[in-house]
Amino acid sequence: MNPLDEVRSAWASLASEINAAGEQQLAELRSRFLGKKGEISGLMRHLGALPADEKPTYGAAVQALRQMVESTLDRFQEQLRSGALQARLENERLDLSLSGDRSEPGTLHPLLALRDEILDLFVGMGFEIADAPEIDTEWFNFSALNMPDDHPARDMQDTFFLEKDSGKDSVVLRTHTSNYQIHAMRDRKPPFRLLHCGQVYRCDADATHAPMFCQVEGLVLDQGISFAHLKATIYTMVRALYGQGAILRFRPSFFPFTEPSAEMDVDCRSVGLDRDGWMEIGGCGMVNPNVLVNGGIDPESFQGFAFGFGLDRMAMLRHGIKDIGLLTAGDMRFLRQFTGLA
Ligand code: DAH
Repeated sequence: MNPLDEVRSAWASLASEINAAGEQQLAELRSRFLGKKGEISGLMRHLGALPADEKPTYGAAVQALRQMVESTLDRFQEQLRSGALQARLENERLDLSLSGDRSEPGTLHPLLALRDEILDLFVGMGFEIADAPEIDTEWFNFSALNMPDDHPARDMQDTFFLEKDSGKDSVVLRTHTSNYQIHAMRDRKPPFRLLHCGQVYRCDADATHAPMFCQVEGLVLDQGISFAHLKATIYTMVRALYGQGAILRFRPSFFPFTEPSAEMDVDCRSVGLDRDGWMEIGGCGMVNPNVLVNGGIDPESFQGFAFGFGLDRMAMLRHGIKDIGLLTAGDMRFLRQFTGLA
């Protein structure tokens, strides 16, 4: 065969085989054509036997063939790789729109169902529902509530600081919904009955404490308000939620923002729980005159009461839940038990 024809036929044979080649065949073609003892080296060996005037043309043809073979093999290899990548991406795609294999009926989370019930109850008692910030300054969260900088009561609540700046008013994730009391007093004029429900944050976690939990805060300011009004309000709520047989006790306690102050406990057996003892649900008291002054209200003209509950605690009591973390764990086996309760 004419040596140039050999070059052409080598190219034709590569071209016919490469289309169907996978990774392994490509590697074989590469060594068959470009290897030390490969076809192109073989073609080069003819050069010595050719007449001098044919050498340059032939040499250039073999060189051109080598380059075409190299670039063609590289191109096919690249195509194979990106094809494989594409296939892998396609395979591993996460289709978030896929539904599960069982349909779950939608339902309110037990905390939200209880929250709605409590809000309804208080609206029925003439309360207005209002909002307050979860990110607040130390002044609203502590100082204005009669807890000056060095007051030991600040240690009762482990605070998450967002911006701590000595000498300045630091920014915190509120540790309780009581920050709401000061916002309420500054935003409107008494008399009023207000209720606020929202998330609070503390650096604390065990079976009965979660770093984020929900509180319900009430504030009533008017003339002639006494502790009797406070007790009647709380009793009304507890009996509506847990039944007329619910037993509640007010245990003397201390909060810097109320005087006198009490903590409220519910008798576990009286609400159908299978255990003795009391469960604390929150604190309350008559608004401390210093707090009224910080809220811009004359303590000679208005008095009032305030209370704060842990919504999670109330839900635990209601459903006999032993671990507060279950309420936010998102475990369907737990949540399914509340389907249809709302
Ligand atoms: N803020 C208190 C706490 O988180 C609860 C509380 C106690 C709220 C007494 C009140 C109150 O409004 O009067 O521990």
